[in-house]
Amino acid sequence: MRSLLSAADLDRDEALAILDAAAQMQAVQSREVKKLPPLRGRTVVNLFFEDSTRTRSSFEIAGKWLSADVVNISAKGSSVSKGESLRDTVLTVAAMGVDALVVRHNASGAAHRIAGWVDCPVINAGDGTHEHPTQALLDAYTLRSRLGDLDGAHLVIVGDITHSRVARSDVLLMNTLGARVTLVAPPTLLPAGVGSWPCGVSWDLDATLSGKTHDDVDAVMMLRVQHERMNGGYFPTPREYAIGYGLSPQRLELLGERVPILHPGPMNRGLEISAAAADSPRAMVLDQVRAGVAVRMAVLYRLLAGGIDGSAGAPVAAVIEEAK
Ligand code: NCD
Repeated sequence: MRSLLSAADLDRDEALAILDAAAQMQAVQSREVKKLPPLRGRTVVNLFFEDSTRTRSSFEIAGKWLSADVVNISAKGSSVSKGESLRDTVLTVAAMGVDALVVRHNASGAAHRIAGWVDCPVINAGDGTHEHPTQALLDAYTLRSRLGDLDGAHLVIVGDITHSRVARSDVLLMNTLGARVTLVAPPTLLPAGVGSWPCGVSWDLDATLSGKTHDDVDAVMMLRVQHERMNGGYFPTPREYAIGYGLSPQRLELLGERVPILHPGPMNRGLEISAAAADSPRAMVLDQVRAGVAVRMAVLYRLLAGGIDGSAGAPVAAVIEEAK
């Protein structure tokens, strides 16, 4: 039994197997009856110590569409707010007979610690500024649906890299899939050691988008400025940030007409992304949300109905066919 804690847990074959399974799962989304039987009788607990809209609800929907019983626990309203330790909370939940834990926590490394305390698979749904592997999978899924094979594709990720678990997981997974990544941010929002990451780095958004400093751009992802993880001093004013690093209507012009725009959400309109960019036909933000459900179905299926390495478990196509 294994967990999904980091995008680095997935080799190319495993990542592609999840993306292919997700493509099959996505067919369920357009059906009237959105239910497949494989996780009947299994219990999935969403343990969220940090705010979330899309990640928590898409894990819940994914579990339910696979017929699992899904329980949501958030720090607010649980014994965590009475002072219980993380370990005691996790062991209490696990003692009830849980088959998988989906965890979000504001401390980097929390999911790894939790996986060491329990016997069931743990899925990291975001740990501090560290990783968010299912977000990287849904980003890869969305890009693949637009660009086809990601081998050699060039993704530019712009914004608050320092505090972004999405950027860390994306860089790892895109590398695994053969895509190239360039990170663009002001120097204050690039983490120490970024030079050793397997990607390019730039401070100049206009030069990158126009292909002057790096190759042609196949896709752009804007990241949220994570105010809640900052304690001042990263940039002078929101206005200056938007001028230097926001995806403005003028910068849209620099990009080819067909270059897709991604954002993991939630978006700060007017800061990292203009309304013109967020609402343009090139924006794939809602495609990403849609992909989130299918990808999380595929991950839950592979962890609970078969091994994440693809061992055991009926092929997804057979499960879907049977449920027709
Ligand atoms: C991201 C997260 O929580 O890390 N959002 C998400 O999961 N869709 C990015 C963010 O909060 O900016």
